[in-house]
Amino acid sequence: MSGRVSVTINVAQSINGFIAGRFGRTVHISSEEDWKRVLELRMKSDAILVGANTVINDNPDLYTGRTDAQDKLPLRVLVDGRLSVPTHSRIFDGRGRTVVFTANRERNMLNCDLVYSDDINIPISFVLEKLSDMKVNSLLVEGGATVINDFIMAGVVDKFSLYVGNILIEGDGIPLFKPGITIPGVVNSWERLGDGFIAMLDAEKLKEELIKNGRRRS
Ligand SMILES: NC(=O)c1ccc[n+]([C@@H]2O[C@H](COP(=O)([O-])OP(=O)(O)OC[C@H]3O[C@@H](n4cnc5c(N)ncnc54)[C@H](OP(=O)(O)O)[C@@H]3O)[C@@H](O)[C@H]2O)c1
Repeated sequence: MSGRVSVTINVAQSINGFIAGRFGRTVHISSEEDWKRVLELRMKSDAILVGANTVINDNPDLYTGRTDAQDKLPLRVLVDGRLSVPTHSRIFDGRGRTVVFTANRERNMLNCDLVYSDDINIPISFVLEKLSDMKVNSLLVEGGATVINDFIMAGVVDKFSLYVGNILIEGDGIPLFKPGITIPGVVNSWERLGDGFIAMLDAEKLKEELIKNGRRRS
């Protein structure tokens, strides 16, 4: 609902609400069927965005499954205020264009375009404005939790698909939402997929509930 860039969030969580294990340990939550759906989503998107910790912990290339050299590869987008990801990360493999939003002008990075923000907490509106200038119409936000919550709170999410995998993750994993909050009634629809299920969430209602929870706690 940014007006110009259509934003989809897609993420997978365990039954008990975690998107990764302890200290960000990578856990494969998606079933084969869900992975196929994710690849289709990637193929339909002009750009795919992740946060610094996702690159540090998972090191995704964000292209997996796109083997056709003729294929139009989506833009890979990293939001990394301090520019702390390793230079050898797979998103810098030079296979396609990568854009990095950062506030750190001291460090250089090869195989990417650096877009500077004056604010270390880069506003989502700034990211969307710049992506729109780059002719991005559709953006897929893959995570992690920090990035996803920032997009929800910015009120710019058009679609939100959440896969709940048939897996439990240790209790000190990375939760999709902060512990200690209550969010009722935000699932618009859900259906079985593989051995888990896919839920479509109401991002606007989710935002309202997160704000209410914040008020209750303060
Ligand atoms: N299950 C799934 O579908 C899925 C998908 C993706 C990721 N993950 C998991 O998610 C975990 C990481 O989640 P996370 O919440 O810790 O991290 P994250 O969202 O991947 O990255 C957060 C970090 O990115 C930088 N960043 C993000 N937005 C920013 C902004 N607007 N301005 C400036 N910097 C910004 C900050 O780095 P600095 O702190 O350095 O400033 C921030 O701490 C990984 O372990 C991964 O396994 C799971």
